[in-house]
Amino acid sequence: MTNRVRKAIFPVAGLGTRLLPATKSMPKEMLTIVDRPLIQYAVDEAREAGIEQMIFVTGRGKSAIVDHFDVAFELESTMRGKARSLEALDRSRAGFGEIVTVRQQQPLGLGHAVWCARHIVGNEPFAVILPDDLMVGSPGALKQMVDAWETLGGNLIAGEEVPADKTASYGIVTPGKQDGALTAVAALVEKPAPEVAPSRLAVIGRYILQPEVLAVLGKSEAGAGGEIQLTDALAAMIGKQPFNALKVDAVRHDCGDRAGFVIANIALALDRPDVGGTVRDFIAGL
Ligand code: G1P
Repeated sequence: MTNRVRKAIFPVAGLGTRLLPATKSMPKEMLTIVDRPLIQYAVDEAREAGIEQMIFVTGRGKSAIVDHFDVAFELESTMRGKARSLEALDRSRAGFGEIVTVRQQQPLGLGHAVWCARHIVGNEPFAVILPDDLMVGSPGALKQMVDAWETLGGNLIAGEEVPADKTASYGIVTPGKQDGALTAVAALVEKPAPEVAPSRLAVIGRYILQPEVLAVLGKSEAGAGGEIQLTDALAAMIGKQPFNALKVDAVRHDCGDRAGFVIANIALALDRPDVGGTVRDFIAGL
């Protein structure tokens, strides 16, 4: 069994109902932050972390996500000689065999989506990236996690303190021993109401997991919201493998939320040398 994280699962079969009507005929992962679709930020972050194989768990109506990483022959020959456009295309072209897809034919939950990739993952540690959570950090969030995981092993999730009234939107950690940005996970519960939440430490959309969780998912029953929850399967591994939450040094934008999506566009545009000045001037004039 390899001790490197080489594979990442991207669950991209979701319907994106919070962003309708934008997502009626377009995958939410193709929504653009400045000039890159969300899925490309996620793939770029994975590449930076050393991931070699991107596993998209996809569904009907989502083929634009895979097409995005293809060689676009017509565009590339038309753009020849136009440096900026070619460079932009370069970053969206996947290497041969870098992307594989598997279908999740029914929306049975995040845990079920991850389980759908079990044959591709095999018996090695893997990452899970939820592209809705756009993470801006340097090094990237997943790279920070891989670096920490190389010492810690086991299961590692990205954690963030959320406002007390938001616990019902996240998996929430019962904290054990704390050491700087690291917290041992003593228990984990999916989307607890604020009155019963064990803390405000939430799971956000980055995980590094051991393959044993896939077998647990295969036997899982529906949990919160009637879905097969990754959170429940991870909770079942507590005590058997090390389990930690890392507060990554990165800013998270929840792009599955309308306000979060607009804020992400503003924040990333302001940071860009090509458009930042124009956007800043406009905002200053408001
Ligand atoms: C999923 C997980 C949840 C986690 C969240 C992070 O929920 O089930 O534990 O906190 O992602 O974004 P979802 O946002 O798919 O409802």
